[in-house]
Amino acid sequence: MSSSTFVLGISAYYHDAAAALLRDGEIVAAAQEERFTRIKGDPEFPHRAIDYCLREAGLHERDLEHVVFYESPVTKFERLVTTYHLTAPRSLRSFLSAMPKWLTTNLWLEQEIQRELGIKRPIAFCDHHLSHAASAFFPSPFSEAAILTIDGVGEWSTTTFGIGRGNEIELASEIRFPNSVGLLYSAFTYFTGFRINSGEYKLMGLAPYGDPVYADVIRRELIDIGEGGAIQLNQRYFDYLGGLTMTNERFADLFGGPPRQPEAPITQREMDIAASIQSVLNEVVLTMARHVREQTQMHNLVMAGGVALNVVTTGLLARSGLFDNIWIQPAAGDAGGALGAALWYWHMQLRHPRRPAPADAMKGSLLGPEICPTSQSDDQELRELGAVWTSLDDASAASTLARLIADGFVVAVARGRMEWGPRALGARSILGDARRTDMQSHMNLKIKFRESFRPFAPMVLAEDASFYFDMQHESPYMLFAYPVAERQRVNPPADADRLFGIERLQSPRSTIPAVTHVDYSARVQTVRAETHPFMHAALAEFKRLTGCSVIINTSFNVRGEPIVCTAGDAYRCFAMTDIDYLLVGNRLCARDQQPAAARNAEQREKWLAGFALD
Ligand SMILES: [Fe+2]
Repeated sequence: MSSSTFVLGISAYYHDAAAALLRDGEIVAAAQEERFTRIKGDPEFPHRAIDYCLREAGLHERDLEHVVFYESPVTKFERLVTTYHLTAPRSLRSFLSAMPKWLTTNLWLEQEIQRELGIKRPIAFCDHHLSHAASAFFPSPFSEAAILTIDGVGEWSTTTFGIGRGNEIELASEIRFPNSVGLLYSAFTYFTGFRINSGEYKLMGLAPYGDPVYADVIRRELIDIGEGGAIQLNQRYFDYLGGLTMTNERFADLFGGPPRQPEAPITQREMDIAASIQSVLNEVVLTMARHVREQTQMHNLVMAGGVALNVVTTGLLARSGLFDNIWIQPAAGDAGGALGAALWYWHMQLRHPRRPAPADAMKGSLLGPEICPTSQSDDQELRELGAVWTSLDDASAASTLARLIADGFVVAVARGRMEWGPRALGARSILGDARRTDMQSHMNLKIKFRESFRPFAPMVLAEDASFYFDMQHESPYMLFAYPVAERQRVNPPADADRLFGIERLQSPRSTIPAVTHVDYSARVQTVRAETHPFMHAALAEFKRLTGCSVIINTSFNVRGEPIVCTAGDAYRCFAMTDIDYLLVGNRLCARDQQPAAARNAEQREKWLAGFALD
């Protein structure tokens, strides 16, 4: 048995189940279950993510001394029962549909987790927002910081703030269910026809096409923004307390009719609603942050919770000057609770001190399974799928990648350890040339099978970031939107104003049009040689070839699927799209050399026909 102390954190049973493992307080591994089961947002007990974490540490389940769950089931149950009690009999259907799972699993979570893991040791439970807070503060580079967590709902809390100092976190204040700016945003996600818990970023991407014409209605009817951001939602318009949907008919009347059906065309109304709720969210979060700054007098802020993934709001916050530095947990949603719960246990239960790392403790958020440059098992997996490749070395892999992108090809990369959190950061990414006007629509439609209104994110050499974007801070995890710098902007053609909606994305607005949204914003990822040597080398070579140090980085998956995990996943995804090249480890697969590409043509059509459009 190892002399090290291991702590396993688990999140599960709601959405985005995940596991994270600490060895003597250091993050050894962290991954979401969806990447292994290939079920997007998989909420089930994360057996495979746990197996992976244990394998990474050479550990057996029976050696696990400390296991922590990311929320308290008893408190959450109390909230559910109280809510049902207050809303009965309207809530009866929703109550009856939720109860079997609670009575058979959730209330007996300790025994359930022990049974799943095959261990008898007690399981620790950390409150939901404390898990978020711990995931934000403990891995951050700060010795002390204000903490702000904002999500839909945990047990009772929907927003908390406090202070992290040394190995302590104190959450001083909270906003409680049903008042939740996260749920308000999710209500609009539902109303505009996107899927709750995954479509929020689509709503955010739609906002720049609209005008905030409904912002006043939202402020007047739906939300009261009190002192310090103490919000109250007017429950007359919502149905999530006792019903089975988020909003009711009164809500629909405010916005000119019923919700958009998921596959219906997106109209100016949805664009204006998106712009309006984004504007209100910005106001609420900035008001909260100002209050937190006044109350804590801290210069640093750390954040987590699903709302912290809204890069438009966090970008505004970063540029507001309210705090000198802001750090956000890359897995800010509930998956990140697994890591937070483990860190909480290590520092606040086992009382181990904390030494903040100069950058942070996340290792570039590359914490998942590794695809090595060369490995016999990956070779075998690829061979079984019919893959044909050329073997490269590290240096030629980086330079070939840069040259192919510069030549206008679309290249998927699956190399190194998989990213932790919803963003692909160059380890499981599809890359392209950001300077090409047609790249946005080409990659969206031919490769990703997804809505073309969403802009791609730029990946830029950290040292060149401020040349391309108005930014003073680094953004290694793609968690902030920044304006494209004035010097990079070009005037759109004179007739661009007459274009409607997503057509506007086709008219170039900068020297890097494929990553510039219609409002000149971009979700920037800065790349440092220390954390990401391979991608830094590729970007540096791209700059040498083209004079430009920005490329497109979008996640390596197709619509409705989780990001690829293994070499086999990467090849399967490559074979079913029009991606030109795949770099898997140091193996380069060219599309025109793949026998599978031709063989899969019929399969691909079937596969596309069966797609669940979200
Ligand atoms: Fe949460």
